[in-house]
Amino acid sequence: MRVLNFGSLNIDNVFAVQEFVRPGETLAAKSFSRGAGGKGLNQSIALARAGVSVSHAGKIGPDGIFLKETLSADGVDVSFVDVSPNEFTGSAMIQVSSSGENCIILYGGANQNISRSQIERAFETFSSEDILLIQNEINSLDLIMHKAAEKGMRIFFNPAPMTDNVFELPLNLVDTFIVNEIEGAMLARSEDDVLQVLRQKYSNSNILLTLGSRGAFYLAKGEVKPVFSPACKVEKVVDTTAAGDTFTGYFISGIIRGLSPADALLLASQAAALCISAPGASSSIPRFFFPVKKSLAKKAM
Ligand code: RIB
Repeated sequence: MRVLNFGSLNIDNVFAVQEFVRPGETLAAKSFSRGAGGKGLNQSIALARAGVSVSHAGKIGPDGIFLKETLSADGVDVSFVDVSPNEFTGSAMIQVSSSGENCIILYGGANQNISRSQIERAFETFSSEDILLIQNEINSLDLIMHKAAEKGMRIFFNPAPMTDNVFELPLNLVDTFIVNEIEGAMLARSEDDVLQVLRQKYSNSNILLTLGSRGAFYLAKGEVKPVFSPACKVEKVVDTTAAGDTFTGYFISGIIRGLSPADALLLASQAAALCISAPGASSSIPRFFFPVKKSLAKKAM
Protein backbone atom coordinates (compact mmCIF):
# COMPACT_ATOMS: atom_id res chain seq x y z
CA MET A 1 0.00 0.00 0.00
CA ARG A 2 1.34 3.40 -1.01
CA VAL A 3 0.33 6.95 -0.14
CA LEU A 4 0.05 9.67 -2.76
CA ASN A 5 0.29 12.96 -0.87
CA PHE A 6 -0.79 15.77 -3.20
CA GLY A 7 0.18 18.81 -1.16
CA SER A 8 2.01 22.04 -0.53
CA LEU A 9 5.73 22.68 -0.35
CA ASN A 10 6.71 25.90 1.43
CA ILE A 11 9.87 27.74 2.35
CA ASP A 12 9.36 28.43 6.07
CA ASN A 13 10.85 31.70 7.32
CA VAL A 14 10.78 31.32 11.09
CA PHE A 15 11.14 34.25 13.51
CA ALA A 16 11.55 33.40 17.20
CA VAL A 17 9.91 36.18 19.25
CA GLN A 18 9.05 36.77 22.89
CA GLU A 19 5.41 37.61 22.04
CA PHE A 20 3.68 37.87 18.65
CA VAL A 21 4.08 41.27 16.98
CA ARG A 22 1.13 43.65 17.51
CA PRO A 23 -0.48 46.05 14.98
CA GLY A 24 1.78 49.06 14.38
CA GLU A 25 4.73 47.51 16.23
CA THR A 26 8.21 46.72 14.88
CA LEU A 27 9.73 43.83 16.74
CA ALA A 28 13.28 42.42 16.76
CA ALA A 29 13.33 38.60 16.51
CA LYS A 30 15.49 36.59 18.91
CA SER A 31 16.56 34.37 16.04
CA PHE A 32 15.73 33.57 12.44
CA SER A 33 15.89 30.38 10.40
CA ARG A 34 14.76 29.19 7.00
CA GLY A 35 13.71 25.61 6.40
CA ALA A 36 11.54 23.13 4.56
CA GLY A 37 7.84 23.23 5.38
CA GLY A 38 4.31 23.26 4.06
CA LYS A 39 1.63 21.02 5.49
CA GLY A 40 1.98 18.73 2.49
CA LEU A 41 5.76 18.38 2.71
CA ASN A 42 5.68 17.94 6.49
CA GLN A 43 3.09 15.17 6.25
CA SER A 44 5.09 13.36 3.55
CA ILE A 45 8.16 13.50 5.77
CA ALA A 46 6.18 12.22 8.76
CA LEU A 47 4.87 9.31 6.68
CA ALA A 48 8.32 8.48 5.33
CA ARG A 49 9.94 8.70 8.77
CA ALA A 50 7.20 6.41 10.06
CA GLY A 51 8.24 3.87 7.42
CA VAL A 52 5.46 4.37 4.84
CA SER A 53 6.04 4.30 1.07
CA VAL A 54 4.98 7.79 0.00
CA SER A 55 5.00 9.78 -3.24
CA HIS A 56 4.68 13.53 -2.97
CA ALA A 57 2.98 15.50 -5.76
CA GLY A 58 3.13 19.28 -5.87
CA LYS A 59 4.80 22.29 -7.45
CA ILE A 60 7.72 24.58 -6.59
CA GLY A 61 9.69 27.34 -8.28
CA PRO A 62 13.48 27.32 -8.84
CA ASP A 63 13.99 28.86 -5.38
CA GLY A 64 12.49 25.74 -3.77
CA ILE A 65 14.72 23.01 -5.21
CA PHE A 66 16.01 22.31 -1.69
CA LEU A 67 12.48 21.24 -0.67
CA LYS A 68 12.51 18.51 -3.30
CA GLU A 69 15.99 17.47 -2.13
CA THR A 70 14.79 17.39 1.49
CA LEU A 71 11.91 15.06 0.61
CA SER A 72 14.17 12.87 -1.45
CA ALA A 73 16.73 12.61 1.37
CA ASP A 74 13.96 11.20 3.56
CA GLY A 75 13.09 8.55 0.97
CA VAL A 76 9.97 10.26 -0.42
CA ASP A 77 9.36 9.64 -4.15
CA VAL A 78 9.52 13.10 -5.77
CA SER A 79 8.75 12.11 -9.39
CA PHE A 80 5.57 14.21 -9.23
CA VAL A 81 7.09 17.38 -7.74
CA ASP A 82 7.20 19.73 -10.72
CA VAL A 83 9.46 22.78 -10.97
CA SER A 84 7.90 25.78 -12.63
CA PRO A 85 10.61 28.10 -14.05
CA ASN A 86 8.67 31.38 -13.65
CA GLU A 87 7.03 31.07 -10.26
CA PHE A 88 8.00 31.53 -6.66
CA THR A 89 7.80 28.58 -4.33
CA GLY A 90 5.11 28.85 -1.66
CA SER A 91 6.37 30.52 1.48
CA ALA A 92 5.37 30.94 5.10
CA MET A 93 6.26 33.63 7.60
CA ILE A 94 6.10 31.97 11.00
CA GLN A 95 6.39 33.65 14.39
CA VAL A 96 7.19 31.27 17.24
CA SER A 97 6.61 32.75 20.71
CA SER A 98 8.54 31.91 23.88
CA SER A 99 5.72 29.54 24.91
CA GLY A 100 6.16 27.59 21.65
CA GLU A 101 2.94 28.78 20.00
CA ASN A 102 3.04 29.89 16.38
CA CYS A 103 1.20 32.11 13.95
CA ILE A 104 1.65 31.77 10.22
CA ILE A 105 1.18 33.91 7.11
CA LEU A 106 1.13 31.95 3.86
CA TYR A 107 1.90 32.87 0.28
CA GLY A 108 0.68 30.05 -1.99
CA GLY A 109 2.99 30.67 -4.99
CA ALA A 110 3.46 27.59 -7.18
CA ASN A 111 1.28 25.53 -4.79
CA GLN A 112 -1.72 27.31 -6.32
CA ASN A 113 -0.86 26.50 -9.92
CA ILE A 114 -1.23 22.71 -10.13
CA SER A 115 -2.34 21.77 -13.66
CA ARG A 116 -4.77 19.10 -14.88
CA SER A 117 -1.99 17.31 -16.78
CA GLN A 118 0.15 17.12 -13.64
CA ILE A 119 -2.80 15.62 -11.74
CA GLU A 120 -3.47 13.05 -14.45
CA ARG A 121 0.19 12.00 -14.57
CA ALA A 122 0.46 11.66 -10.79
CA PHE A 123 -2.43 9.19 -10.55
CA GLU A 124 -1.27 6.91 -13.37
CA THR A 125 0.41 4.25 -11.24
CA PHE A 126 -1.91 4.29 -8.19
CA SER A 127 -4.73 1.82 -7.58
CA SER A 128 -7.53 0.97 -5.17
CA GLU A 129 -4.95 -0.46 -2.72
CA ASP A 130 -3.54 3.02 -2.18
CA ILE A 131 -4.37 6.13 -0.18
CA LEU A 132 -4.65 9.76 -1.28
CA LEU A 133 -3.72 12.32 1.38
CA ILE A 134 -4.58 16.00 0.87
CA GLN A 135 -4.55 19.24 2.86
CA ASN A 136 -5.97 22.65 1.87
CA GLU A 137 -2.89 24.52 0.61
CA ILE A 138 -3.11 23.72 -3.13
CA ASN A 139 -5.58 24.36 -5.96
CA SER A 140 -7.71 21.83 -7.89
CA LEU A 141 -8.54 19.66 -4.88
CA ASP A 142 -11.91 18.79 -6.45
CA LEU A 143 -10.26 17.28 -9.52
CA ILE A 144 -7.69 15.48 -7.35
CA MET A 145 -10.46 13.98 -5.20
CA HIS A 146 -12.47 12.84 -8.23
CA LYS A 147 -9.35 11.22 -9.74
CA ALA A 148 -8.70 9.33 -6.51
CA ALA A 149 -12.32 8.20 -6.35
CA GLU A 150 -12.15 6.98 -9.98
CA LYS A 151 -9.18 4.85 -8.94
CA GLY A 152 -11.02 3.59 -5.84
CA MET A 153 -8.39 5.10 -3.53
CA ARG A 154 -9.22 5.96 0.08
CA ILE A 155 -9.10 9.74 0.63
CA PHE A 156 -7.68 11.15 3.88
CA PHE A 157 -8.42 14.88 4.05
CA ASN A 158 -6.83 17.29 6.51
CA PRO A 159 -8.70 20.53 5.66
CA ALA A 160 -6.00 22.81 6.98
CA PRO A 161 -6.04 25.75 6.81
CA MET A 162 -9.84 25.55 6.86
CA THR A 163 -11.62 27.95 4.47
CA ASP A 164 -15.13 28.25 3.03
CA ASN A 165 -13.83 26.77 -0.27
CA VAL A 166 -13.73 23.40 1.45
CA PHE A 167 -17.54 23.26 1.36
CA GLU A 168 -17.42 23.37 -2.45
CA LEU A 169 -15.41 20.12 -2.56
CA PRO A 170 -16.95 16.65 -3.02
CA LEU A 171 -16.71 15.90 0.71
CA ASN A 172 -18.88 12.80 0.32
CA LEU A 173 -15.80 11.14 -1.22
CA VAL A 174 -13.71 11.55 1.94
CA ASP A 175 -12.88 8.34 3.81
CA THR A 176 -11.28 10.04 6.82
CA PHE A 177 -11.34 13.66 7.96
CA ILE A 178 -8.42 14.77 10.13
CA VAL A 179 -9.24 18.04 11.91
CA ASN A 180 -8.14 20.02 14.92
CA GLU A 181 -10.58 21.84 17.17
CA ILE A 182 -10.81 24.98 15.02
CA GLU A 183 -11.07 23.13 11.72
CA GLY A 184 -13.60 20.71 13.23
CA ALA A 185 -15.86 23.52 14.45
CA MET A 186 -15.66 25.27 11.07
CA LEU A 187 -16.40 22.05 9.20
CA ALA A 188 -19.32 21.27 11.52
CA ARG A 189 -20.43 24.93 11.46
CA SER A 190 -20.97 24.46 15.18
CA GLU A 191 -18.94 24.62 18.38
CA ASP A 192 -21.19 22.17 20.24
CA ASP A 193 -20.37 18.51 20.17
CA VAL A 194 -18.35 18.82 16.98
CA LEU A 195 -17.80 15.07 16.67
CA GLN A 196 -21.48 14.22 16.72
CA VAL A 197 -22.37 17.03 14.33
CA LEU A 198 -19.68 15.81 11.92
CA ARG A 199 -20.99 12.25 12.36
CA GLN A 200 -24.45 13.40 11.22
CA LYS A 201 -23.13 15.40 8.26
CA TYR A 202 -20.54 12.91 7.05
CA SER A 203 -21.98 9.56 8.03
CA ASN A 204 -19.78 7.63 5.55
CA SER A 205 -16.51 9.02 6.88
CA ASN A 206 -14.19 8.35 9.79
CA ILE A 207 -13.45 11.44 11.85
CA LEU A 208 -10.23 12.15 13.68
CA LEU A 209 -10.44 15.20 15.96
CA THR A 210 -7.22 16.40 17.62
CA LEU A 211 -7.38 18.68 20.66
CA GLY A 212 -3.68 19.41 21.30
CA SER A 213 -2.75 18.87 24.94
CA ARG A 214 -6.30 17.56 25.62
CA GLY A 215 -5.84 14.46 23.48
CA ALA A 216 -7.59 13.17 20.36
CA PHE A 217 -10.80 11.37 19.39
CA TYR A 218 -11.42 8.94 16.54
CA LEU A 219 -14.96 8.18 15.48
CA ALA A 220 -15.18 5.33 12.96
CA LYS A 221 -17.88 5.32 10.27
CA GLY A 222 -21.03 3.65 11.47
CA GLU A 223 -20.09 4.21 15.12
CA VAL A 224 -21.50 6.72 17.60
CA LYS A 225 -18.95 6.16 20.37
CA PRO A 226 -15.47 7.57 19.70
CA VAL A 227 -12.12 6.17 20.79
CA PHE A 228 -10.11 8.63 22.92
CA SER A 229 -6.37 8.91 23.45
CA PRO A 230 -4.83 11.40 25.90
CA ALA A 231 -1.91 13.54 24.71
CA CYS A 232 1.59 12.55 25.81
CA LYS A 233 3.17 14.74 28.47
CA VAL A 234 5.90 17.08 27.27
CA GLU A 235 8.52 18.60 29.59
CA LYS A 236 8.99 21.82 27.61
CA VAL A 237 7.03 22.92 24.57
CA VAL A 238 9.64 24.44 22.25
CA ASP A 239 7.74 24.85 18.96
CA THR A 240 4.30 23.50 18.01
CA THR A 241 4.87 24.00 14.26
CA ALA A 242 4.15 20.78 12.32
CA ALA A 243 2.73 18.96 15.37
CA GLY A 244 -0.56 18.39 13.52
CA ASP A 245 1.32 17.24 10.41
CA THR A 246 3.36 14.79 12.47
CA PHE A 247 0.17 13.49 14.09
CA THR A 248 -1.47 13.02 10.69
CA GLY A 249 1.48 11.17 9.13
CA TYR A 250 2.00 8.87 12.10
CA PHE A 251 -1.70 8.16 12.53
CA ILE A 252 -2.00 7.08 8.88
CA SER A 253 1.16 4.98 9.26
CA GLY A 254 -0.45 3.20 12.20
CA ILE A 255 -3.61 2.46 10.22
CA ILE A 256 -1.53 1.16 7.30
CA ARG A 257 0.37 -1.12 9.70
CA GLY A 258 -2.91 -2.54 10.93
CA LEU A 259 -2.89 -0.95 14.39
CA SER A 260 -6.23 -0.42 16.08
CA PRO A 261 -7.41 3.23 15.92
CA ALA A 262 -6.62 3.55 19.65
CA ASP A 263 -3.02 2.42 19.13
CA ALA A 264 -2.64 4.55 16.00
CA LEU A 265 -3.79 7.57 18.06
CA LEU A 266 -1.27 6.76 20.78
CA LEU A 267 1.55 6.37 18.25
CA ALA A 268 0.57 9.68 16.65
CA SER A 269 0.46 11.53 19.97
CA GLN A 270 3.87 10.18 20.96
CA ALA A 271 5.30 11.40 17.65
CA ALA A 272 3.62 14.82 18.02
CA ALA A 273 5.00 15.14 21.56
CA LEU A 274 8.52 14.61 20.21
CA CYS A 275 7.87 17.12 17.42
CA ILE A 276 6.90 19.94 19.79
CA SER A 277 9.94 19.31 21.99
CA ALA A 278 12.27 20.50 19.19
CA PRO A 279 12.38 23.65 17.02
CA GLY A 280 11.37 23.80 13.34
CA ALA A 281 8.73 22.26 11.09
CA SER A 282 9.91 19.25 9.06
CA SER A 283 13.22 19.14 10.93
CA SER A 284 11.44 18.35 14.23
CA ILE A 285 9.46 15.36 12.94
CA PRO A 286 10.73 12.21 14.71
CA ARG A 287 12.00 9.13 12.93
CA PHE A 288 10.28 5.79 13.10
CA PHE A 289 9.64 4.26 16.48
CA PHE A 290 7.56 1.20 17.27
CA PRO A 291 5.85 -0.44 19.14
CA VAL A 292 3.50 1.90 20.92
CA LYS A 293 4.84 1.98 24.45
CA LYS A 294 4.92 5.26 26.32
CA SER A 295 8.37 4.61 27.78
CA LEU A 296 9.89 4.27 24.29
CA ALA A 297 8.75 7.58 22.95
CA LYS A 298 11.41 9.73 24.57
CA LYS A 299 14.29 7.53 23.45
CA ALA A 300 13.24 7.69 19.84
CA MET A 301 14.76 10.99 18.69
O1 RIB B 1 1.68 22.97 9.64
C1 RIB B 1 2.84 23.76 9.60
C2 RIB B 1 3.05 24.32 8.22
O2 RIB B 1 2.01 25.21 7.92
C3 RIB B 1 4.32 25.12 8.07
O3 RIB B 1 5.42 24.32 7.71
C4 RIB B 1 3.92 26.17 7.04
O4 RIB B 1 4.62 26.10 5.83
C5 RIB B 1 2.41 26.02 6.85
O5 RIB B 1 2.08 25.36 5.69
